[in-house]
Amino acid sequence: MVELREFAAADVPLLMAWIAGPTELLTWAGPAFTWPLDESQLAEYAAESATDRRRSWMGLETDSGRVVGHASLRIDAAVSSGRLGRVLVAPQARGRGYGTALLEPVLTAAFEELRLDRVELGVFDHNESAVRLYERLGFVVDRVLPDVERVDGRPWSALQMVLEKSAWGRTAAG
Ligand SMILES: CC(C)(COP(=O)(O)OP(=O)(O)OC[C@H]1O[C@@H](n2cnc3c(N)ncnc32)[C@H](O)[C@@H]1OP(=O)(O)O)[C@@H](O)C(=O)NCCC(=O)NCCS
Repeated sequence: MVELREFAAADVPLLMAWIAGPTELLTWAGPAFTWPLDESQLAEYAAESATDRRRSWMGLETDSGRVVGHASLRIDAAVSSGRLGRVLVAPQARGRGYGTALLEPVLTAAFEELRLDRVELGVFDHNESAVRLYERLGFVVDRVLPDVERVDGRPWSALQMVLEKSAWGRTAAG
């Protein structure tokens, strides 16, 4: 199981250590940050996370207390909608179910605590483990944005996925 605690400026060095290069940075956060990632960009992100526009968390494995992941929700209260992003599992912890375990309490916070009606996200279509993770949680593809980035001469397309509150919890993972 994974528990959440609020992301804070003190977590910045750990996040920086989990992002190895520019392609990983783009995969993780889209164009929100620029490489080289530095403390000031993430400090600004931590500051935004302390406002009512955004909530960001570190995920801790319940048994060990070990920090295993990070996720964030940008909140648009006017339309009861959230945008999930910055989903990241520590490189050494991937492929063991932590991604799913991290996002379950994030979605509980979104739908129960924040009382949002829907959560959206964007994910590059070739990011198979992320797309599978979101599908397991009940997200469905809403639309495809073709060729939103170009990396090493290759076009990257993004899926826009959505999870309505009414669909949340209907899957095995939710
Ligand atoms: C995408 C990402 C968050 C997925 O996290 P993860 O912890 O590897 O995800 P999970 O472990 O929950 O799922 C991955 C695999 O582990 C398997 N798994 C799930 N529970 C498991 C368990 N208890 N034991 C072993 N394996 C398990 C799943 O079946 C899944 O396999 P599949 O993808 O082939 O179906 C992670 O790879 C990551 O941080 N990537 C870099 C950043 C990124 O791409 N973020 C997303 C941006 S949109």
